[in-house]
Amino acid sequence: MSNLDNLDKIVSLSKARGFIFQSSEIYGGLSAVYDYGPLGVELKKNIRDQWWKEMTQRHDNIVGVDAAIFMHPKVWEASGHVGGFNDPMIDDKQSKKRYRADMIIEQYIAKLEKDGKEDQAKELQEQLDTAGSRKSLTEDLYDIIMENEIRAPESGAFDWTEVRQFNLMFKTQFGATSSEEDGVYLRPETAQGIFVNYKNVLDTARVQVPFGIAQTGKAFRNEVVARQFVFRMREFEQMEMQYFVKPGTDQDSYEEWLQKRLAWHKSIGIREENLRTAPHPDDKLAHYARAAADIQYKYPIGWQEVEGIHNRTDFDLTQHQEFSGKKLDYYDQKNQERYTPYVIETSIGLDRCTLMVLCDAYREEEVDGDERVVLKMDPRLAPVQVGVFPLIKKPELQEVAHKIDKDLREEFTVQYDESGSIGKRYRRLDEAGTPFCITVDFDTIEKDDKVTIRYRDDMSQVRIPIEKVADVVRDGMKGWSPS
Ligand code: GAP
Repeated sequence: MSNLDNLDKIVSLSKARGFIFQSSEIYGGLSAVYDYGPLGVELKKNIRDQWWKEMTQRHDNIVGVDAAIFMHPKVWEASGHVGGFNDPMIDDKQSKKRYRADMIIEQYIAKLEKDGKEDQAKELQEQLDTAGSRKSLTEDLYDIIMENEIRAPESGAFDWTEVRQFNLMFKTQFGATSSEEDGVYLRPETAQGIFVNYKNVLDTARVQVPFGIAQTGKAFRNEVVARQFVFRMREFEQMEMQYFVKPGTDQDSYEEWLQKRLAWHKSIGIREENLRTAPHPDDKLAHYARAAADIQYKYPIGWQEVEGIHNRTDFDLTQHQEFSGKKLDYYDQKNQERYTPYVIETSIGLDRCTLMVLCDAYREEEVDGDERVVLKMDPRLAPVQVGVFPLIKKPELQEVAHKIDKDLREEFTVQYDESGSIGKRYRRLDEAGTPFCITVDFDTIEKDDKVTIRYRDDMSQVRIPIEKVADVVRDGMKGWSPS
């Protein structure tokens, strides 16, 4: 049983075991910014590695880049972020709290549904769905809030400001002078670093359309509603891939990538029943998109987007071509034709993905009358893959355990532990998601040169020869599926 009806247990486990901490905690924390601890950094790295392997190593036509976080300010004009990367915000004048206007309405709809007022909820949902398609979005949202007398969630007041657009990009100074023109943005997505390198890659990597460019890296958004742990952060990491295709083949490629990405989530051990795809309705598509869908995960806070797949058409390359004055088209030598490629984008948040892995792995079980908390995750993702213990602190057992620990470290992440009872050590590593624990006991040194391997998921124990430990662990890394 997962027993997760909110994120509280994941937040406490993350802090207690060293997965994720609040940023600058000793100073009271910085809102919506998080640090990864010793276990978290390994988990995140393992997820990133799996993504990278899937997106580059397994494809002979996808290459990687690592573009800088700072980019020329014109990039964000061309991309539309300066003019349009906004959230519609409304302030409660009494509490001085700021909310996203559409979310206030969504919360109100959920309340109506809970109170059995289905018809009213449906009508309001329709109004919300069409908001922005008649006149401006801000006015529509404001009207809905006013007409329905929706009150502020915390203060209960009905004392709102107008709805205003709030740009999500962070701006900072660049260089020693501080004129307005020197301002640069912290990138709000990694994708633009790929678009501006499209020509560099084309000229150097011997790629031909269709081909992809993949990148992982930090992105920054001044999210106003930034709660829910690492689900919505102000500094986060993205893993994006832009696949350049011939116009006309774009929709097939989009469908293919949507299915491939969904399959990847299952391949890293996420339970199928907790995943679904959610296509964006046509009237909700971003201005540049021809088609888009979210891959959603059933988080304890509800079904939410973990990844987006978009058919971005030739919007980005055309915009950068116009703003930079550089040609960004493609010459197909074989067919002797020139065109601007369409782009299929796969974009996943690494932090959101890490949260998904933690939530999906979390189990509470009863063992001999005690509660065991265990993270049943794919062994390839586990921050500590093997625990090595001497049964007790005796030099002859410690010596053998240290030798096994050292040998395994060449290939796996290992934790040596000799403190507390064996049961306590198992529990500690269950909470870290460690799939295999190796114990050296007196039989090992006096009788058989064998150790006990204990499996995290079913707690079964088997004796195996010391020289086979690496082989057994290596085999156990493959083909895991969630129970
Ligand atoms: N280049 C397209 C793009 O950035 P997006 O839907 O805005 O699209 C893609 O973001 C993914 O990045 C999301 O599916 C989500 O996983 C992650 N993401 C976006 N904003 C985030 C935030 N504030 N905190 C954590 N992850 C975020």
